[in-house]
Amino acid sequence: MTQDPPKAKPPKGDQVAISVVDPDEVVRFVLTERMQEIGGNVVGYENLAAFSDQADPARPGVVVFGPSDKPDEVISQVAGLIGFRPGCGAIMVVYELTAEVLQGALRAGVDDVVAVTAEDTELLDAVSRAAARVNLRRPTPVIPPPAPAGSHGPQGRVITVFSTKGGTGKSVVAINLAVALAKRTIQPVVLVDADLQFGDVALMLQLAPVHTIAEAAAAGERLDGAMLENLLLRHEPSGLLVLAAPTEPSSADRIGRADLARTLAVLRERCAYVVVDTSANFAEITLSALEAADDILVLASLDVMSLKSARVGLQTMRVLDIPFSTVKFVLNRANTRVGLSEADAERAVQLKVDAALPSDILVAESVNRGVPVVTSSPRSKFAKSIDDLASVLMASAPAVAGAQQVE
Ligand SMILES: Nc1ncnc2c1ncn2[C@@H]1O[C@H](COP(=O)(O)OP(=O)(O)O)[C@@H](O)[C@H]1O
Ligand SMILES: [Mg+2]
Repeated sequence: MTQDPPKAKPPKGDQVAISVVDPDEVVRFVLTERMQEIGGNVVGYENLAAFSDQADPARPGVVVFGPSDKPDEVISQVAGLIGFRPGCGAIMVVYELTAEVLQGALRAGVDDVVAVTAEDTELLDAVSRAAARVNLRRPTPVIPPPAPAGSHGPQGRVITVFSTKGGTGKSVVAINLAVALAKRTIQPVVLVDADLQFGDVALMLQLAPVHTIAEAAAAGERLDGAMLENLLLRHEPSGLLVLAAPTEPSSADRIGRADLARTLAVLRERCAYVVVDTSANFAEITLSALEAADDILVLASLDVMSLKSARVGLQTMRVLDIPFSTVKFVLNRANTRVGLSEADAERAVQLKVDAALPSDILVAESVNRGVPVVTSSPRSKFAKSIDDLASVLMASAPAVAGAQQVE
């Protein structure tokens, strides 16, 4: 690591304790010194056991894992750390930053991974960001209490984003739409990642999935607003709340249709909008998300396979008695020149296009950076189309929401 003066600002949360864990004394010393530039009393520990014995559990903190242990070992240590200190942030410093390590680390709940060769400011920035997040994760009331018993408080709208084909842009649309809605209302807006096996909403928003929908499901009948509140992650600066998909794809099996139904019911009592991202199939959980929806955004792009699967999806929804009046047809990458037009898509799916979203390189860039387009490029055509879609959804009353059928 170089010795440039750090440009990183100290974290706002000066109460956040920073610890360094590395078995190598010299590495630990260097990292501890480095961290002191952020402020506070930084303590070095030889291993996680020493940390758990000695660090004050009442004080939230960020643990910086040094590079001396193998990344795999550190990743499993982080998973353990999050198990016994759920509010903690974790940063990994590695000798070699590979996509595999990054993915494994983020899945385990690491806030950020930084290579030893990176600029010092990168590490300090990462720790500052994690410290700010740790502060945000403290139990502050993020969703207001429900309306008092007897008064029927407004029920939020559930908006389910669906397509029977992977890669159509469900997650991109769900995230951007949810952020757009969160920016437009002072009431809470929540995004639920119901793609239980491959859900990556948290990753796409740079949020560490400290808690996930798996915990909401495990609570069963005991689930209530106060409990759910603690499971939500908060995206800044939009204020969007996120219920992340499980970090372990295997826990998907333990989450049933009733679990999602219960979770959505609790959320809609307290949030103005509950946006649900789904997987590309009619899994039980997806049915639950479709059944609960006031609006179903059926996504397709301008290719024959995508249009065909949208049509099959709609037919299946009819068989399942899911009210057709809730459907809105969203054409993603609508400007792609592939020999098919919007009118062709309407004929193929037998629905009028309610929203056409352009294909834009900014979208792919934003996914990679973990910043939604509506935040990074609010004036882009894509962001404007999402804003229009948000306006349509905000304007439509539950009873009259509906797609126009093509004669
Ligand atoms: N309008 C768009 N313009 C450009 N790229 C897009 C657009 N929508 C989606 N993508 C790209 O497609 C990829 C898959 O989108 P994603 O939302 O993850 O699909 P799904 O959730 O349906 O599987 C994204 O990573 C993004 O790069
Ligand atoms: Mg997805």
